[in-house]
Formats: sequence, C-alpha cells, structure tokens
Amino acid sequence: MGVEVITHDVVIMGSGIAGLRAAVEIKRKYGDKIDLGIISKVQLMRSHSVAAEGGTGAVLYPEEGDSFALHAWDTIKGSDFLADQDAVWNFVKLMPEEILLLDHWGMPWSRREDGRIRQRPFGGHSFPRATMSADKVGHNEMRTLYNKLLQYDKWERYDEWFITNYVVENGIYKGLYAINMKDGKLYLFRSKAAIIATGGVGRLYAFTTYSHTATGDGMAMSFRAGIPIKDPEFVQFHPTGLVPNGILITEGARGEGGILLNNKRERFMARNDCAPHAKELASRDVVSRCIVKEYLEGRAFIDEETKMPYILLDLTHLGEERINERLPSIREISIRYDGIDPAEEPIPVFPAAHYHMGGIHTDIFYKVLDENGNWIKGLFAAGEASAASVHGANRLGSNSTAECLVSGKITGILAAEYAVSSELPEAPEPKRSKEEEDFVYGLLKRESGEPSYSIKHSLEETMMQHFYVYRDPNSMAEGLKKILELRNKFFTNAYVEDKGSIYNTDMIAAMETMNLLDNALIVAKSAMNREESRGAHARVDHPKRDDANWLKHTLAIRNGENDVRFSYWPVTINTWKPVERHY
Ligand code: FUM
Repeated sequence: MGVEVITHDVVIMGSGIAGLRAAVEIKRKYGDKIDLGIISKVQLMRSHSVAAEGGTGAVLYPEEGDSFALHAWDTIKGSDFLADQDAVWNFVKLMPEEILLLDHWGMPWSRREDGRIRQRPFGGHSFPRATMSADKVGHNEMRTLYNKLLQYDKWERYDEWFITNYVVENGIYKGLYAINMKDGKLYLFRSKAAIIATGGVGRLYAFTTYSHTATGDGMAMSFRAGIPIKDPEFVQFHPTGLVPNGILITEGARGEGGILLNNKRERFMARNDCAPHAKELASRDVVSRCIVKEYLEGRAFIDEETKMPYILLDLTHLGEERINERLPSIREISIRYDGIDPAEEPIPVFPAAHYHMGGIHTDIFYKVLDENGNWIKGLFAAGEASAASVHGANRLGSNSTAECLVSGKITGILAAEYAVSSELPEAPEPKRSKEEEDFVYGLLKRESGEPSYSIKHSLEETMMQHFYVYRDPNSMAEGLKKILELRNKFFTNAYVEDKGSIYNTDMIAAMETMNLLDNALIVAKSAMNREESRGAHARVDHPKRDDANWLKHTLAIRNGENDVRFSYWPVTINTWKPVERHY
C-alpha cells in the first residue's frame, strides 16, 4: 500500500528541550528560508523534558570563583574519564550564553538577593552552578522555548505522530516514516536534514523517574538503521526516586542541604566507605551505590505494603519557608503521592533509572556517524538521544538540560546550513517499511496472544533484577536469556486488542515495546561486554576501573535480528589524564 508524502527542508524528531532549542535556532538564524517540521508522539508540552527539576549547569560567576576549567574538570571527573574532553570544553564554553538567552526570552530564573540569577550546589560540582527556577527548570525552559518559537512562521507541528523508522541509503539520510495517530495513516517525511531529539530509554526499568513516553524510540530506530550506539551500558540511577512510584526528588533537595539517613538514622554518606568529603553531593553513581549497599547490608527500611527498600531524605531542618521557595514541587509531590510533608518528616527514596549516558554515535558537533566515523549526510542527533560524549560513564546532575540546549543550538545551525546548501535527496520508495509490514500491521491481524503491555512489564522487571546499579555476570546472563525470550514472545505472539485506526494507543504501545526490546538487547549485551567498573557501570566481578583495556567507547551495532556486535571508538583526552576519583 502506498503512503502520502510530506516534505520539509528540515525535520526535527521530538519536541523536548533539545528539539525546541534546535527549532528556535533554525528560525532565529534562517527565518522563512527554512521550512521546518517538528514531529512528536506527544503534545508538545508533554515531552519528558518538562519533568526536569533542579537546575541547568553553567558558569555564570567567574568573579565568584567558578571557571570553564572547573566545570570541565568536574564533568570529566564525574564521567570517570570516559567523556571526550573536546566535547566537554565546547559544552562548558557554550553554556553561559544559553542561560542568558533563555533569560532574555522570558525564563523565570530564581533570583538571589542581589537580583542576579540564582544557582545552587549539585552533586559532583565543585561550585554551585545549577541554575535554578525553583524546582521547575524543565517546565519553565520548555515554556520559554515554545513561546519564543511562536514568534516565527513557516514551521509545522505534527503532535501525536509516531515515527516508526528512518531510512539511510549509501550514507545519506533519505527520510522517515510516521503514523498520524489521529487517523492511523502512514506518511513518508522527506527532508534535506533531520535532527533526532527523541530522548532517553528510562522506561526500560520499572522504578524510574521517566515519563511513560521515554522508550528510546530514536535509539532503537537508529540501531535498526545500522547506526552504532555509543556506550549503551551506562545507565544512570538517580539516588532519590520517591518510593514507591519513582517520581524524581531533585538533587536540588540535597543541594539545599538535605541529608540521607539509613534505618539506624545514620548519615551514611559521611562514612569513609562512602563519600566523606562531598557526602550527599558526591556524583550520582557514587551516591546510588552507597544507598544500594546500605540495603544489601541490611541498613535500609522496607516498605511494608510494597516490600520496596528505601532510605530517608531528610529536609526537615531546612524549614518550611525555604522548602516553599526553593523546592515547592518536591513538597507538593511528597504530600500528594506519599502523604508526607517534607517540612515535617523525611521522605522515602531509592535509586531510580534517570538518564542514559549512551546514545546515537555522533561527533562533537552532534553529526550522526557510521562505524568508520563517516557522517550520515543530513543526519544529526541532540539531547539525551545522542552520545557526543560529554558525559562519558556518568553524567553530573544539571548537565542534561544544559546539553539539550547546547546540542539543540549546534544541530539547529548545522542542519539549517546543510539544508540551504543541498538538494532534497531522492526519496526512498514510498511504501511501508519492513518493520511496518512484519511487526506492526502483522500485529493487527493477530486474533489472540499476549498483550504487549504484559511483555513490557516483564521487560521492566527483568532490567531491574539483572541490570540495575550492581551488575553480576551470572545474573546478567540470566537477564539476557529472559530478554531474548521476551523478544521471541513479542515477535511471535504479541497481541493488540484494538483493531481500529483512530488513536490506536494499543498499537502505539506495542511499537514502543518493540523499541524497548531492541534497547534492552543493546544495553544488556554492552553491559556484559564491558569487563570493568566505570561510572554508572559497576561489575561485581570486575570492581575496578581498567584503563589499560577499557578506556574506550563501546559502539554497539546491530548484527542480525537478535544480536549485537562491538566496535570501539577512542576517547579524546586533551587536557586531563585519568586519575582515581575521590569525593
Ligand atoms: O535532580 C535533578 O533535579 C535532576 C537533574 C538532572 O538530572 O540533571
């Protein structure tokens, strides 16, 4: 069956902070010269970026002691020396302007008593540089970017369109296929350039701070298109997901002075075996490991109803006034979901999947690369979907929204530049892709089977059990076996009950599950492959970092239907040689 064709100069996949920042850059630099399309599976302001809370990292006050070198050093040390140092330097130098641009565009940054923009301490940063808008940073950045974009013409939103796959032929990006959820029809989008800004893979895990929509669609479709995925083994677990639902309790809570307590009411982060200097403000990988260790050694609480482990985040000493001013959402969330007022009682928390350091292989300008380092002409990736790599093996808090802004800006300029100087590539034949024919529409024909929701649920539990904070080789092997079984079950027996075409969310959920199953395979195989501990990847059988063998990026590449092969990519070290990390 044929498909209708829609053409733009540039197409952006995803409408979070990275996608919107790219759109604003294209429009403010190229205006009506570029015809832009923004495709998102959600209504624009429902992108997961709205959930970012605590701060955006940038050097604003060198006269008070901060510097680019300090921000770069903190980021590289935080990355456990796997970050590409040239990418980090670019990032820190471009960030301050992003904060000021947002300010000029109406961003309601919090203010200090002297009227200047307020920043607060965050983990792993040796200067308080998390630029804050109370604890609603993502929401306010999204609103500001969207309001700015509304000033321009010649761009179109495709909200609630689900991208199924994109096509690369002979090293050139050719177009993408998307389903309009309103009528269920498939369309081919042709463009000269495209930016993948589809976010992270956090919904691989049951206990997570991510929205339900964060299924790593861009990463999965890139994998299927033969693009390497860089460093997928590195998944970040935020130390303080609210128990039992995983909603983010911002690191800003610890930045404002919150402390962590075990079931003996001991401030364990201050112990010598945790982080005696930085304590609660060590990097996230360190804090999450210490929390899980408290649990494994019997010093965590166990929730009677859910049987979930937790430790306590105590903010009571901050006082109601400060909590209301700096952490209003945290207070609201704790009261609404747990019936606990943090001004009066500590909050139950535990590490939750929060960020993916891995992503689509790009250079430091976010151009998507093949295995040999050749640019896929016309294709860029920005934000969490990309791996440039600024964050290496562990990202510092507040550097995510920051990288969304910087990578959005860079990809916006480069995609527009490329589009004005190139021709529309030849279209791939406008027909349904293999994935569509075999899996998606095949699903609609099946009369019975297992609901994709239950396969997804089993997958989330599998990832929690076998690929969480600490990774054991036997357990990972068992986890991989389960993933392969779930893949087999999905492709042979998944069932979609709704056979209609209008807003068939049942079918969209099945396609998201297919993406998660691809992403699980990539993460699991890469975690088993890296035989060392570095940043967020903690192997119980290889507890030390091994620079001699593993100071290199993983490139995970599709190898048939159910396998991954590995290639490696050098780490750029131009300023600081790796040393042991202490917090
Ligand atoms: O804790 C937080 O507010 C999260 C910030 C981040 O991941 O950068």
